Amino acid sequence: MPEFRLTQISDPHLTRRQPELTDNFHRVSEYIDATRPDLVVDSGDLAFDGPTHRDDLEFAKTLHAALPVAIFGEDRWYFEAAGWCFIGLNSLVMNTGLASDAEQFDWLASQLASSNGQPVALFLHKPLFLNSPGDPELAATSIRYVPMPARSRLVEMLGAVDLRLVASGHVHQRRDFTYSHVRHVWAPSTGFIISDARQELIGVKEVGLVEYRFQPDSFEVRHVRAPGQIDVDLVSLLGRASEN
Ligand SMILES: [Fe+2]
Repeated sequence: MPEFRLTQISDPHLTRRQPELTDNFHRVSEYIDATRPDLVVDSGDLAFDGPTHRDDLEFAKTLHAALPVAIFGEDRWYFEAAGWCFIGLNSLVMNTGLASDAEQFDWLASQLASSNGQPVALFLHKPLFLNSPGDPELAATSIRYVPMPARSRLVEMLGAVDLRLVASGHVHQRRDFTYSHVRHVWAPSTGFIISDARQELIGVKEVGLVEYRFQPDSFEVRHVRAPGQIDVDLVSLLGRASEN
């Protein structure tokens, strides 16, 4: 395969109770239908309130299943395409001490060992860090990034392979920067933004998605907003949620 086209969506937070989020997801779905990438990756937060509203997860699952192309959303995954190794990790189990935390690191070690010098693209929910791997962990942002010491361990393991891309979601801000030859792309939420009163401004606050084109030894990134997507503010959603 000479070129592999991947579209990343993130943080749709779907629920029947918030039709604006569903509308935004439909705009994204229509865009995917028009562009037909080889694969769609959703980097997490599929449901608005999964723990207390099980129906949110079912609703999110139904809408994802209706997307017109293949989609990845398992906890962790690995595949190769266009001369690249693609790895998806579950950042939410890191540092939990759960068996799945240790299992995931063991699994990652074996996958990295099989990358055979090919460039590696990593997908996970939380960004690895704000600006650099050694950033201090602050109380205010401790849930925003991959926590210490899991972060250090991950960075050390990835240092042994040809890591080129770390793609994440979670922050609901679009960002794209390079640190030590590795490009870090933060996908925005497909559904909503969080205003400055509730969250500091780091990148760009807008809804949208990210498109990637991978060729052997190179890749391109396009920051996209699907036609018709609206910058819904979390505050308006919370107002409605408290009414329900
Ligand atoms: Fe989110």
